Amino acid sequence: MNVLVTGGAGFIGSHACVSLLEEGHNIIILDNYSNSSPEVIDHIKTITGRTFSHYNCDLLDYTQLDTIFGKHEIDAVIHFAGLKSVPESTTIPLTYYHNNLTGTLHLLQIMEKHKVRRLVFSSSATVYGTNNVVPYEESMPTSATNPYGWTKVMIEQMLRDYTSAVPDAAVTCLRYFNPIGAHKSGLIGDNPNGIPNNLMPYVCQAAIGILPSIKVYGTDFPTKDGTGVRDYLHVADLADGHVKALEHLEKAKGFFVYNLGTGQGTSVLELIDTFERVNNIKLKRDICGRRAGDIATSFANVNHAIEEIGWETKYTLEDMCRDSWKFIQTKNKNK
Ligand code: WQD
Repeated sequence: MNVLVTGGAGFIGSHACVSLLEEGHNIIILDNYSNSSPEVIDHIKTITGRTFSHYNCDLLDYTQLDTIFGKHEIDAVIHFAGLKSVPESTTIPLTYYHNNLTGTLHLLQIMEKHKVRRLVFSSSATVYGTNNVVPYEESMPTSATNPYGWTKVMIEQMLRDYTSAVPDAAVTCLRYFNPIGAHKSGLIGDNPNGIPNNLMPYVCQAAIGILPSIKVYGTDFPTKDGTGVRDYLHVADLADGHVKALEHLEKAKGFFVYNLGTGQGTSVLELIDTFERVNNIKLKRDICGRRAGDIATSFANVNHAIEEIGWETKYTLEDMCRDSWKFIQTKNKNK
């Protein structure tokens, strides 16, 4: 299929583009490079040996978006583009609502104008909020505790309503748990601008010496060792989930939601211990208080993805730690 990928130069988007190209699909990448780099485009070409169209495009630019859709025969869209920092969203909520909601509305309006009616949306486990019990299951009620999370809840609702109104539409929301790791080549990975929010990029920057230590946010959670438990999955597995979801939409119509996770929970200390062991590194740990808004435990029920789109994870936590370390070493070897 010809697949337009918004945010295709980002962490998840770039890995999904590699998987799509390796499965024989054609892609068109749109990215405004607000949290990614144009060099990722070259890395995707190097890894796959394939070329493709790509545009520096912001979804808020309705006219440019319309022009791009007019230039290409597009069979489906995978929509990654969006602001995604939980703490930042609490300081600039209107920017998050405008960027994520208006951008998605523009995309849906242009898709409808060009009769493109297959969409895979990058959603998040954050929509499970704080009132559900683990393992999280797709039919559970959604809510959020921050503007970023609310944009995901609201976009899922927009897509549910759009699909109800357009019988020919086929839409899948993929709820990511905690994607970490990097492509085995070391060329692409999680490379956030500025100080990382998330655990693994923080661990990697502490390991390579960019940061002095790793902060452990809270040791008094009701969990196996008192630290936060999450469902970490390899970004390569997550990318494969997008190909499976897209190919499922070649035949299916309607609205679908799938959790993409391993179904297992790993604590902060378990992840740090695993990273140190597989990479033969010792990290300085600062034990801190809880981070505002953090829940104790989050992990997925993944039965629907396994049964309905034939997807399940292949990589281990050791693979995730090894590949993350290789990426940050590759990234910094010329510095
Ligand atoms: C994981 C665990 C922290 C950093 C977030 C977003 C979510 C999604 C994934 C987009 C927690 C602990 C973290 C650190 C730490 N993003 N931690 N020291 O919070 O589960 O999810 O990213 O969709 O929307 O909320 O991921 O990696 O930030 O934290 O101890 O320096 O690591 O307390 O227990 P989180 P995370």
